[in-house]
Amino acid sequence: MPHPESDAWFARARAVTPGGVNSPVRAFAAVGGTPRFMASGQGAWLRDVDGNEYVDLVCSWGPMLLGHAHPEVVAAVTAAVARGTSYGTPTTTEVELAEEILGRTPVERVRLVSSGTEATMSAIRLARGFTGRDLVVKFAGCYHGHVDSLLASAGSGLATLGISLGVSTTPGVPESSAAQTIVLPYNDRAAVEAAFAEHGDRIACLVTEASPGNMGVVPPAAGFNAFLAETCRRHGALFVSDEVMTGFRVSRQGQWGLDGAVEGWTPDLMTFGKVMGGGFPAAAFGGRADVMAMLSPEGPVYQAGTLSGNPVATAAGLATLRLATDEVYARVDEVAGTIAAEAAKALTAAGVPHVLQANGNMFSIFFTDAPAVTDYATAAGQDTGAFKAFFHAMLDRGVYLPPSAFEAWFCSSAHDDRAVQQVLDALPAAAEAAAAAGSEGGAR
Ligand SMILES: Cc1ncc(COP(=O)(O)O)c(C=O)c1O
Repeated sequence: MPHPESDAWFARARAVTPGGVNSPVRAFAAVGGTPRFMASGQGAWLRDVDGNEYVDLVCSWGPMLLGHAHPEVVAAVTAAVARGTSYGTPTTTEVELAEEILGRTPVERVRLVSSGTEATMSAIRLARGFTGRDLVVKFAGCYHGHVDSLLASAGSGLATLGISLGVSTTPGVPESSAAQTIVLPYNDRAAVEAAFAEHGDRIACLVTEASPGNMGVVPPAAGFNAFLAETCRRHGALFVSDEVMTGFRVSRQGQWGLDGAVEGWTPDLMTFGKVMGGGFPAAAFGGRADVMAMLSPEGPVYQAGTLSGNPVATAAGLATLRLATDEVYARVDEVAGTIAAEAAKALTAAGVPHVLQANGNMFSIFFTDAPAVTDYATAAGQDTGAFKAFFHAMLDRGVYLPPSAFEAWFCSSAHDDRAVQQVLDALPAAAEAAAAAGSEGGAR
């Protein structure tokens, strides 16, 4: 598909913004070529500035559970904008959004913020303030936003750009900050036991993606989250479950609905973002009432935000959550299941080594001959050259995949049969392209 307008805009963008983008993975650095500048989105479809149309399997990296420009969300936002865009005072919509979050999750109190990064940063500060301890445990390949202490061995854009494949972090994070973070291999109970045995009385919290999606989809082994919750409890540390990506997406109640609600445990703190903002900058952290009571103005741990609980963002989030019914989740699950299965089938037919991994309606395909991907080390071993060829073949056929082998694919309830069919039609040729790149010994 020709894209001269995107080319021209990318050149202009690079003259004014580092790398031409406002978030690194958008730059296509891992797949090459020009990032498409999107002009509009409608339902399952994105249209770029050249007029090319794509079935969107990124969905703004998760938020667009209902698809783009859902009429009822647009109506709620339009009405909110007409009433004024920010007052810096409490509003009723914030309360209603908080009530909706409490109604779907085990959190007892919630504080609204503007990004997932802010949510995890604030949750970590609160955990430290509550416990009076400094150390934070995280897992390699889990991404929790660009919080200084959490960028150690994070996935997502850092994995895409080949940064931090070891335990180090990005330049700009003081060593003293990274030194407060213990990084462990995901799904490794023995490593968790050992870290807590050695440092248990200094650990403020363990933070984990409730089901990792930022190194590709690497679900927790059965009972792993319950084990983490129990280990934290035994050592007086807080268990922070990061549901920025999974929250209100993999089920009505997020990942907790798929495991904690079934197994009978609750995190001490949780973080949310993406879907709950309905495509606007809104996020949240919440949890046990006694922990949240430490937060200012009730308690001494300071946290604030000029645009926190913004009336337009909360209107979008509230409308989205109210529309996210069981039928919506059933449709997203169905679409994701179909696309995932057909993608795996096409790759098998073309003889491309791969592993399909799914957690509810979030899934990704690893171009690897490993039998399963259980942690960052196995995720990092994939053939990114094969992915690159696959990605471009799909893009040329009007399917917009995440431009990285280390990201989840996202669907929406607006993915109708026509959109799904366009994806299925593109798969065989893309699988052949991946096979050809693989046999050329594609760059790892
Ligand atoms: C699990 C998780 N936590 C936190 C974040 C950070 O959220 P934001 O990009 O809104 O700052 C992300 C973003 O992808 C995420 O996936």
